[in-house]
Amino acid sequence: MSKIDVFISEDQLKKRVSELGAEITEKYSSPDKNLLLVAVLKGSVVFMADLMRNITCKCAIDFMATSSYSSGTVSSGNVKIIKDLDVNVSEYDILLVEDILDSGYTLSKLIEILKTRNPKSLSLCTLLDKPDRRKADVKLDFRGFTIPDEFVIGYGLDYDERYRNLPYIGILTLDKE
Ligand code: IMP
Ligand code: MG
Repeated sequence: MSKIDVFISEDQLKKRVSELGAEITEKYSSPDKNLLLVAVLKGSVVFMADLMRNITCKCAIDFMATSSYSSGTVSSGNVKIIKDLDVNVSEYDILLVEDILDSGYTLSKLIEILKTRNPKSLSLCTLLDKPDRRKADVKLDFRGFTIPDEFVIGYGLDYDERYRNLPYIGILTLDKE
């Protein structure tokens, strides 16, 4: 049997997400701001749903989905957009909402693509940050938790499409054969 240990509880998530919502509200409250929350599917949906309810300034939401391919044995960070935004971003202050920042390849590519569309501004919020595994330089504006190099699941995060529905973040230990 594989084992799941609770790593970040429901209460801890609730508290931190509400703090992040307050920080984001403060940054985007002025009348010249026009916030667009962009969640990257699928892992970010649970975080997005909770975060947006803790943001009290005017905001719109949209979603993107990407798939990454590695070329040969090197993880190249080639990112393909498989679901794009519905809106023209030139009027918006984009805040990208991610579940976890790991190597950073996916996000750095996505940021590069979004910048070519000239949004008013582009910032980044991730619930979890795994700095030990970073390969691409990504500047974070909002961070929920810094975590060690462990494979985590739950609160949107999956292992092979499972466990996204867990209300907490757990560390998954797989059986040894
Ligand atoms: P990266 O930053 O380009 O390496 O990719 C980050 C993506 O890898 C995340 O959006 C997740 O989908 C996935 N990922 C990275 N670490 C974990 C983990 O510990 N659990 C579940 N998914 C992970
Ligand atoms: Mg993801």
